Amino acid sequence: MAQKFDVTVIGAGPGGYVAAIRAAQLGLSTCIIEREYMGGVCLNVGCIPSKAMISAANFLHRIQHDAPEMGINIKGDVKVDMKKLVSWKQSVCDRMAGGVEQLLKGNSVTVMRGEASFKSSTELSVKTKTSTEAVQSKYFILANGSRPIEIPGFAIDEKTVMSSTGALAMTEIPKEVAIIGGGYIGLEIGSYLSKLGVKVTVVEANKNLLVGLADPDCVQVVARKLKKNGVEVMFEAKAKSFKKSGDGVELTIDRNGKEEKLKADKILLTVGRRPNSDQMNIKQIGLVLDERGFVKTNAQRKTNFANIFAIGDVAGQPMLAHKASYEGVMVAEICAGHNRAYDAKTVPAVIFVDPEIASAGMTEEECKAAGHTELKIGKFPFAANGKAVSLMETDGFVKIIADAKTHIVLGVHIVGPEASNLISEAALAIEMGARLEDIALTIHPHPTLGETMMEAAEASLGHAIHIIQKPLNLKKESAPARAHA
Ligand code: FAD
Ligand code: NAI
Repeated sequence: MAQKFDVTVIGAGPGGYVAAIRAAQLGLSTCIIEREYMGGVCLNVGCIPSKAMISAANFLHRIQHDAPEMGINIKGDVKVDMKKLVSWKQSVCDRMAGGVEQLLKGNSVTVMRGEASFKSSTELSVKTKTSTEAVQSKYFILANGSRPIEIPGFAIDEKTVMSSTGALAMTEIPKEVAIIGGGYIGLEIGSYLSKLGVKVTVVEANKNLLVGLADPDCVQVVARKLKKNGVEVMFEAKAKSFKKSGDGVELTIDRNGKEEKLKADKILLTVGRRPNSDQMNIKQIGLVLDERGFVKTNAQRKTNFANIFAIGDVAGQPMLAHKASYEGVMVAEICAGHNRAYDAKTVPAVIFVDPEIASAGMTEEECKAAGHTELKIGKFPFAANGKAVSLMETDGFVKIIADAKTHIVLGVHIVGPEASNLISEAALAIEMGARLEDIALTIHPHPTLGETMMEAAEASLGHAIHIIQKPLNLKKESAPARAHA
């Protein structure tokens, strides 16, 4: 006999578990099926463990580099106990994953541990450790995530050729790591490994880092810091093959048509992730995929079957946890009869490198392509902000882009300390259709990093206080009022 629910969610990542909780909050009988870990990639082998390792490495770096300048003398060598570090990182993940399980149970969601697969568009078969169960549901929410892309000759074994999962679990610090792909994961993990003392070389196919993923001016600041911290980048380079060499490996790289060799102890492969849409009989039951393999959905994240929704990494870019959660809440509410569709103006993005890069809205190029021919752009450097100076974190800036006629904020790009926390104000501004004046005339507390946002808005209007700008006759400036005035 099949178990029956109003809503069945497949996958307990930040898309799935959030959808299940909201569906249960709305009074729907809800089941969630998870084959591996509560919290998905994000809490177990993605966002949370990587940020734990980054925070530890940044702490170490500050002790080694900033503390002596501040007059804090640490006697003897500061050493890293990698086994203890990894076990602390695991405790952070376990705590978060345990919290998810409690939230699901506390909201009366039925949690099934097992591998789900579609028998038809209205029934799942779930293979648990001990049995195979049938599950029927009015609605299914597909939130089964993504996995790393492999390239020919570099099969991931998590020992010699690692994905992010293997890299985050290393209990010994290798001497040299070759990272194939200088995107989000390659640079986040590469940055913290270099701070732990690893010689990192990034093999990147493009001419620059983070092409299409971040504002080019922001990337320049990070590229300089990577170099300063000893990370080497080979541009226009593709790894072709590798062979064992001593205790490590030797890679053959095609660099702009020329063959080069690179030695390392381990290889980290980070050339992107692919949706898990080739699993679960997704294609066999007739769910339609797009040309990049994502499950095709409409603005409500409904697939070509009216009773099946897809959210998160399996449903398209950007592959970010907060986008998955936003879709999860939305789809659960649609299942409960609410009138909702995806209408977010921006998905903010953060790359946790040194310094952090965060963005919301469009880049200059995208603004122009969208028909905003005249732009007002203001930049404010962290070097002119009292809090940043007192933190000894003065690299970077806040850049605000607005339409020159309406002053409506179109994009914010930050590179600098706590960019990840500062970007939420920008996302709110863009969602609310704020003008530069809304940010400039909002009192920001002093001394905080947040003042840089206010000053960047003022800089766009030509009159930031803490940088020298050309004299300006404020009366002549025909600035519109605040958006809410
Ligand atoms: P997932 O988190 O992938 O969860 C899918 C779940 O479905 C998994 O638990 C899986 O076991 C389960 N599942 C799959 N198939 C089945 C099946 N047949 N039956 C039962 N269960 C199944 N994003 C950010 O926003 N910020 C970050 O800082 C960040 N850092 C990252 C760092 C790394 C190293 C990585 C790899 C990713 C990072 N991401 C980050 C991306 C983020 O992890 C994903 O966007 C997010 O996890 C997607 O959520 P999801 O719910 O779609 O899928
Ligand atoms: P990515 O798409 O961010 O970067 C891949 C990089 O590899 C690109 O720079 C690309 O040019 C390069 N590349 C591709 N093929 C190559 C080849 N054969 N040789 C050399 N270089 C090659 O992919 P990544 O880093 O694997 O991350 C996957 C996704 O996970 C991200 O796009 C993001 O959505 C998510 N993520 C988000 C994080 C965050 O929000 N902070 C952190 C980590 C991951």
